[in-house]
Amino acid sequence: MYTRVFHLSFFIWSCLSFVAFTVGSFQQNLKVRPYARDPLQDVVTWDEHSIFVNGERVLFFSGEFHAFRLPVPSLWLDILQKIRSLGFTGVSFYVDWALLEGKPGEYSAEGVFALEPLFEAASKAGIYLLARPGPYINAEVSGGGYPGWLQRVEGYLRTNATDYLATTENYMTSVLKSISNAQITNGGPVILVQPENEYSQAVSGIPFPNADYMEYVEDQFRKNGIVVPLISNDASPYGHNAPGQPAPVDIYGHDGYPLGFDCSNPSRWTSFNTNFRTLHLEQSPSTPYSIVEFQGGAFDPWGGVGFDKCLSLVNYEFERVYYKNNYGFGVTIYNLYMIFGGSNWGNLGHPGGYTSYDYGATIAEDRSVAREKYSEMKLQANFLVASPAYLTVTPGTPSTTQYTTSSDVYVTPLKSNETQFYVVRHSLFNSTEATTYKLRLDGSSSGNITVPQLGGSLTLNGRDSKIHVSDYDLGGTTLLYSTAEIFTWQKYGNGTVLVVYGGPGEQHELAVSQIGISSSEINASLDVLVNSTETSVIVNWLTSATAQYVTIGDLQVYIVDRNTAYNFWVIPSGNSLYTNTEDVNIVAKSGYLLRTANVTETSLDITGDLNATSPLWIVGGAPKNLKTLTFNGQEVEFSVDENGAISSNLTYIAPEFAVPTLKDLQWYYIDSLPEIQGDYDDDAWTLASFATTNNTSRALTTPTSLYASDYGYHAGSLIYRGKFTAKGNETTFKVETQGGTAYGASIFLDSSFLGSTVGNKSAASANATFALPQLGADEVHTFTILIDHMGLDEEWTVGSNTMRSPRGVLNYDLAGHDQSDVTWKLTGNLGGEDYVDHVRGPLNEGALYAERQGYHLPSPPVETWTKGLSPIDGISSAGVGFFTTSVDLDFPSGYDIPLSIRLPAINFTSTIRVQLYVNGWQFGKYVSNIGPQTQYPVPEGIWNYNGQNWLAVSLWALEAAGGSIASIELVASEAVQSGREQVQVVESPAWSQRAEAY
Ligand code: GAL
Repeated sequence: MYTRVFHLSFFIWSCLSFVAFTVGSFQQNLKVRPYARDPLQDVVTWDEHSIFVNGERVLFFSGEFHAFRLPVPSLWLDILQKIRSLGFTGVSFYVDWALLEGKPGEYSAEGVFALEPLFEAASKAGIYLLARPGPYINAEVSGGGYPGWLQRVEGYLRTNATDYLATTENYMTSVLKSISNAQITNGGPVILVQPENEYSQAVSGIPFPNADYMEYVEDQFRKNGIVVPLISNDASPYGHNAPGQPAPVDIYGHDGYPLGFDCSNPSRWTSFNTNFRTLHLEQSPSTPYSIVEFQGGAFDPWGGVGFDKCLSLVNYEFERVYYKNNYGFGVTIYNLYMIFGGSNWGNLGHPGGYTSYDYGATIAEDRSVAREKYSEMKLQANFLVASPAYLTVTPGTPSTTQYTTSSDVYVTPLKSNETQFYVVRHSLFNSTEATTYKLRLDGSSSGNITVPQLGGSLTLNGRDSKIHVSDYDLGGTTLLYSTAEIFTWQKYGNGTVLVVYGGPGEQHELAVSQIGISSSEINASLDVLVNSTETSVIVNWLTSATAQYVTIGDLQVYIVDRNTAYNFWVIPSGNSLYTNTEDVNIVAKSGYLLRTANVTETSLDITGDLNATSPLWIVGGAPKNLKTLTFNGQEVEFSVDENGAISSNLTYIAPEFAVPTLKDLQWYYIDSLPEIQGDYDDDAWTLASFATTNNTSRALTTPTSLYASDYGYHAGSLIYRGKFTAKGNETTFKVETQGGTAYGASIFLDSSFLGSTVGNKSAASANATFALPQLGADEVHTFTILIDHMGLDEEWTVGSNTMRSPRGVLNYDLAGHDQSDVTWKLTGNLGGEDYVDHVRGPLNEGALYAERQGYHLPSPPVETWTKGLSPIDGISSAGVGFFTTSVDLDFPSGYDIPLSIRLPAINFTSTIRVQLYVNGWQFGKYVSNIGPQTQYPVPEGIWNYNGQNWLAVSLWALEAAGGSIASIELVASEAVQSGREQVQVVESPAWSQRAEAY
């Protein structure tokens, strides 16, 4: 097959051209831009249809995966194999600057933040990578990827302001060095890179597009060794940075989210793009048509409807209709955002999202692949990668009259030499009707015939779209046409296997050119009608749940319904797209997941996952002389049928394991708001001493800046302490706080609770006024204000300055006083930008006393804590309680058993804010009065499945009566018997005394 072979000759050629370039470069005259294309860059080239890798056309069919949202590097291969098993060839990934340069000038990408394990996993899985390191990424992460300290830079972000550009240098140099080492030219998987992100719009008054800025960023990439093509992702097809425009990238691409991000009405399909091809021809006709992000799900905000609804909105029907529409535009660089979302652990998210970033994506947050949209994607990707002709198609003019017998059907024809693809959908794109039609083949080698010829009609059943083909090459045999959709075809020596499918109960027909095949060489199962003439063999059938077959000479056709096709897999033998020297793909049907295959002359070793006992049926790729068949290393028995297909049975053995009952464990409790005790000493706290701020998003309305990021506190939560000497005439205290949407705040005077801002899904800030008790003159009093920090806003629109929207106290008024009568101190995470925990990164901790002391870490000093109080007991007054317990797990190996922590249903009248920490990793933020999330998946590897774990819970009660968590449970989801590689438990350093902690 065309995409999967790494040719030794190209490798040698690459090495030679490297030598040639090194020598030749000395002779280059200096008129050439210093980072202009060099011959090595030609390892990845392109024309108007597709990219080429090592001279071969490649379909970059990709899904977005953020390794930083799954901080267990040994699970990255699991995800990448699950993507590879979809038939995908690529993955696109962002890098989140905020996690790698918590302190200006100190880039740190170690442990769970290292990129190299991702590159290794991609190479192993056989996946090409598109790297998107920013510097700006958006991505629903805090600050859109900008570290909080960028709030202190005056110049506009995402522009060529010198101070802003200077901040990017250290990160970009470091990250680009890692990425360039992993380029294909250095033997790695990276074949494309994207500078910036959706550089597409600015507020009025900001010059846009700013070519100097984009050129600067692009030069940064080139200077730091990037030689593969630069690709863009315009937010919409506007044409920014397209060839001929200012600061062009190599390959122009754009994004598309036609259904947007409101999941509350999942069947509402409102918008649909029909002009992408036209715009492409206007904007960038000489580059491959590229959709760098297309909707693969949706994000959901605090107070949102939950990801189940997003999954229904962007479901398998959406995939059929919207994605096939994109194939109708001839897209060959295609990335679905997200294919696996993961989790916003450790405060990495922005305020517009909660801990789960499931996204309703193809692969669920707990890494399971049971969603129907996973199976549907597999059908589509496998078809396209098996269709070399698709890579050189020219889309023709769509019509509702020319190609079918029904004007309710809209057909986009795509042609490449003889081959035609007909992308068929309802003329009313969101129709739920069942429409019957026949297809008129246009200029096919069979003539302008109407099919099916042998009887029946085709049906478009509701929200569906199909791709019919004519004159489609099956490696030497011509498929004259097929109304049934192709899952895959593979050639093995002289024989060819073709798998086609149709929806339940649909009539279909295919025809194969009949050259030198005698009728004795044609065999079929009972339920198909075969008409063999001198020129063709026509096969017609009504799709049923029973698989059918037709043998036509050396061609073996398997005919299945879509649900059966869902269980088919195409797994390459050998394990890599670009180091695979064996040109064999296994075609097999089996239960839950097939991952890898290895073929020798007499053996076939398959790995995969089971969630139930499942028959294994291998219809292509097994050695003729098969002696040994293994599944996950265990030998299994098999039989061979008359067509050479192998049958076996894969036995699922239910694992035995026990999930601890959390409420019955030994819990320990400590108060985590000692700040409101009379004798609390805040000597070590940061004095809010800056009389000015560089933060240009909002002018100061306080004598000194109270913006947390001015003092290096960027995540989790914030505590302010304001001291004043009373005069005895104080009546009220008014304070304006800001923490980002859905935040909350609690305000105390000394030990007395004044009140809380409990928050709601849309308020990022709030004013609150409190009546004060009678204070005695000359007494010193202290306000303590605890503010939730929901992350920093993104900077989607250049010049909006939203990323710099401050967190903390914005304004205050103590009646009878000048503002300057109050002296403020503040804290966030211990150390601020000199954060303590370099393993879990700069954002994992907030301002809570227990966090500052490191009590969320394993083995805290519980000897001095209250024994036997659990989060279910809770606390009896406003404040913060902190609970921890040790959880022993002993799960069997060979199984993937996702665990999650379940908290009570959302209760709009109770007001508690809870954070969950597993072995020190903050993996859940729960807001009882806003929601929607109540269940928090935490991956194996963060949990140690064979040993001791520590689960910590912070419980912030925002009401005078305190609060408790009605229930807390550990829940296992479906246990999958898995052929994945062993999970390595991530390093999770235990508690040790923090000398500097206060
Ligand atoms: C795009 C952006 C991505 C992500 C996505 C929505 O506009 O490029 O980073 O934010 O929207 O999930």
